[in-house]
Amino acid sequence: MTTWLITGISRGLGKTLAQAALARGDTVVGTVRGDTTGIEHRTGTLHVLSLEIGDPHAIELVVAEAFDRVGRIDVVVNNAGYGLLGPIEFATDDELAKLFEVNVFGPFRLIRSVLPRLRAQDGGHIVNITSIAGRAPMAGSGAYAAAKSAMEGLSAALLQEVWPLGIKVTAVAPGAFRTDFLSDHSIRRSNLRSEAYAASVGPVLDRLDEHAGKQIGDPALAAAAILAAVDAPKPPLHLLLGPDALQRTREKLDAVIDEMDRWEDVTCSTNFAE
Ligand SMILES: NC(=O)c1ccc[n+]([C@@H]2O[C@H](COP(=O)([O-])OP(=O)(O)OC[C@H]3O[C@@H](n4cnc5c(N)ncnc54)[C@H](OP(=O)(O)O)[C@@H]3O)[C@@H](O)[C@H]2O)c1
Repeated sequence: MTTWLITGISRGLGKTLAQAALARGDTVVGTVRGDTTGIEHRTGTLHVLSLEIGDPHAIELVVAEAFDRVGRIDVVVNNAGYGLLGPIEFATDDELAKLFEVNVFGPFRLIRSVLPRLRAQDGGHIVNITSIAGRAPMAGSGAYAAAKSAMEGLSAALLQEVWPLGIKVTAVAPGAFRTDFLSDHSIRRSNLRSEAYAASVGPVLDRLDEHAGKQIGDPALAAAAILAAVDAPKPPLHLLLGPDALQRTREKLDAVIDEMDRWEDVTCSTNFAE
């Protein structure tokens, strides 16, 4: 039986992950901003704590309460988050600050807070839900991509710091999943449409609007995939979810390698002559 701490279990991927863990008899400490999750379960044990992930003072208290309630926590999932769409030029300081508080600084603080406890219990697994936007960004998602890339980089460095302590790290990058993510309830938009960006950002935002509510990814299957990764003896550091995420990442990596090759001579021309 696995014990989980999952942020943002009121809706979407966090909720389906909590439901999947409970269904197999696991114990879940889940955070919400309100006071209910709408989760009904016949198996497993659910503890619900209140957390606004952007509140820097709340995180240590919630983590302490979570460990007090269940003793050991095997898997910590940084899931809560939201997207910000629009041209980078129009993102305000306030929008950027809020986005990074919720999608980067909150998860960072949560990791900092759980690490001494995971060390004390000789292991654990930190799972950061990032995004395909953090690996293969598109126009119109620059701020969100920057936040999710930060979590990708943090995850890769963190694993190198903590693997000798028995702590595992996985950055999960979902493609498009049918949650509230693209609804007005979740996504933020940094400005009205602009003529200047009609050719670049415009078509991307149109496509996202068309896809809202029709995304090809099934959140229940995303949850099953995360369970499989967590249960694996050697979990992946980077896990993509969805064939759309796979295709975008392959195209991105092919383009990166191709460009690296084309510029190799310039790249290698910068050392002092011996
Ligand atoms: N769905 C996708 O296509 C997709 C793709 C790539 C990455 N992701 C990532 O997957 C994660 C989950 O997204 P989702 O698709 O499940 O979206 P969702 O349906 O909008 O759910 C978002 C969850 O995060 C919580 N949350 C948002 N802001 C919060 C805050 N400031 N403090 C505490 N909780 C907060 C929400 O709680 P409330 O109910 O209180 O708002 C909700 O539980 C996010 O990190 C997102 O960036 C999703």
